[in-house]
Amino acid sequence: MVSPLSEAMLDVIAEALVDQGYIVLTDLVPVDISQVLFDKVHSTQVDELKPAAIGRGIEQQLNADIRRDRIRWLEAQNPQDALYLDVMAQLKAGLNRRLFMGLFDYESHYAVYQPGAFYKKHVDALKGSQNRILTTVCFLNPDWQAADGGELIIYDEADNELERIAPKMGQFVIFLSERFPHEVMPTLAERRSIAGWFRVSNSMHGF
Ligand code: OGA
Ligand code: MN
Repeated sequence: MVSPLSEAMLDVIAEALVDQGYIVLTDLVPVDISQVLFDKVHSTQVDELKPAAIGRGIEQQLNADIRRDRIRWLEAQNPQDALYLDVMAQLKAGLNRRLFMGLFDYESHYAVYQPGAFYKKHVDALKGSQNRILTTVCFLNPDWQAADGGELIIYDEADNELERIAPKMGQFVIFLSERFPHEVMPTLAERRSIAGWFRVSNSMHGF
């Protein structure tokens, strides 16, 4: 059983999303679960991960100028992935109770950035697309050093830098997907994260 997210933590997250649209947390995912996820992604061979793509369907393109990470989508049938997805389900329920965001489903992938990899500044959701509403990023790098680079930088809508987050184990970032351009600086060490997106249901919001 995954221990429940505290009501106090959910209150803090909900309030931050209303006031600022984002929050950086250090203790959302229980340490034992982070360790299981780290072991899993650490033992994964690079060739088991797919080069990440940009866009969907027909518009999907591989674009090494924009992003160089390799990914694997999490699956509920996988016992380790399920631990993380359980925490995210609690987050979804807690936020829906507080904010009536109508968060409906969640998709997420492990991403491995090899030395030299980056992800240029981008926005996760197009305005009004009613698709990706809330972004989460969970970092899985126990021995991260400041000199390793690979920071996640979050900007405001006027492109002012808001936060520069080292991808250390335990760091967890949540932001409104439409509002915050962000980028992954070139990394010098292997860098692992889980990026995920809560979406609203098209049948509820598609008209
Ligand atoms: C993404 C993303 C950031 C990270 O996959 O859209 O911004 O640190 N990832 O993995
Ligand atoms: Mn992104």
